[in-house]
Amino acid sequence: MDKLLVRGGEPLKGETKASGSKNSSLPILAATLLASKPVRLSNLPHLRDVTTMLELLAVLGARVSLDESLAVTIDTNSVSNLKAPYDLVRKMRASFLVLGPLLARHGRVEVSLPGGCAIGTRPVDQHLKALELMGATISIVNGYVTATCERGLEGAHVAMDVVTVGGTQNVLMAATLARGTTVIENAAQEPEVVELASCLREMGASITGDGSSTITVDGCNQLQGCSYRVKSDRIEVGTYLIAAAATRGHICIHDACPETLDAVLDTLRDFGPDVQVSGSTIELDARTNSSRATDIFTAVYPGIPTDLQAQFMALNCVSEGVSQITETIFENRFMHVQELVRLGADVRLMDARTATVKGVSQLRGAPVMATDLRASSSLLIGALVATGETAINRIYHIDRGYERIEEKLGWLGADIRRVSV
Ligand code: UD1
Repeated sequence: MDKLLVRGGEPLKGETKASGSKNSSLPILAATLLASKPVRLSNLPHLRDVTTMLELLAVLGARVSLDESLAVTIDTNSVSNLKAPYDLVRKMRASFLVLGPLLARHGRVEVSLPGGCAIGTRPVDQHLKALELMGATISIVNGYVTATCERGLEGAHVAMDVVTVGGTQNVLMAATLARGTTVIENAAQEPEVVELASCLREMGASITGDGSSTITVDGCNQLQGCSYRVKSDRIEVGTYLIAAAATRGHICIHDACPETLDAVLDTLRDFGPDVQVSGSTIELDARTNSSRATDIFTAVYPGIPTDLQAQFMALNCVSEGVSQITETIFENRFMHVQELVRLGADVRLMDARTATVKGVSQLRGAPVMATDLRASSSLLIGALVATGETAINRIYHIDRGYERIEEKLGWLGADIRRVSV
């Protein structure tokens, strides 16, 4: 198992380029199951989760090929296996996104329940309720969700009880091949929903309202192939900006989708750094200012993403003053707290959704354990700031979501090494 060895204390400086978005790539890969012609996708990030989704598509029978420019072409006409097995779904919850497309196109599907997760119970009730409203018959047997709709899906009026990104995406995909019109109310407004809708439109789907809380889909008989370039990863960009702020560095990130990061950039400015946007480049300069503790309250888009909560906590750990971190999206998303404390941070959990952070002047290197994807990146930020060496164990979590992280941080001046143990 690999681990990262980080010798902290150096400010991040230099230029880098954002990678393609993981959370956009995964639903778009699932959406290829709807297309009756091959779909070519470029700018997919080279990540473990993307490989898992490609593996799942191949298990279902899709033909996946890679061209010389590293774009992936997926032909799902050969799909004959309609069962998404436990071994792949347990590795990555987003595998559940094949449910809607397979059901809509083939009238039948079996997908393993995603099961437990390090950041809360994460049910899928909203996905299932919506598909039932669209005419699916659903049962759960032996840990698998079986859904059938012999006469195809019917458009329906679906009001989500909670705002769910994956639920909205599953229903959106299913609705493109349903008979009639589907209206999704209380839909997620995240950029990754908008991107999925854009890609589906390229395939010929009729979708309006994405990016608002009501999405309308007019179903059709079949979708075509398309060529689509995945946009940049706003969480990766946010993570590197926070890391630069924590190390009092100065970095530029190109191809950085600033239009999706308003709340994050405003919050970073509250900490003290100078943040400038020019076209698709974001420049953060934290060399002259001290960092001010800033309260963090996660929320659905356009609020501060829960996927940056742990990283902002790491920044607060080395900022002046006391801050409160409130996690509103997931319960039990504070697994990083105990590990940050091992680095010398002063963090107290008030309850399952609130933590208080008292900034300290210095963190000190220590062995720590990554527990989930974003928690790992907060430990990395702590390690970049800390004096001495930090060993981050179980970094396969980081590899799920950050492309070539040690290489990219290395270019920005970090002393970071991957070792196999
Ligand atoms: C996606 C992102 C993840 C991000 C999360 C919230 C991907 C691959 N993952 O996850 O990185 O942290 O959005 O922005 O894009 N819920 C229910 N019932 C359901 C579905 C969800 O109660 O049927 C609840 C969840 O428990 C959670 C909240 O809704 O409390 C939001 O979850 P959701 O938006 O569905 O997250 P994911 O799509 O799994």
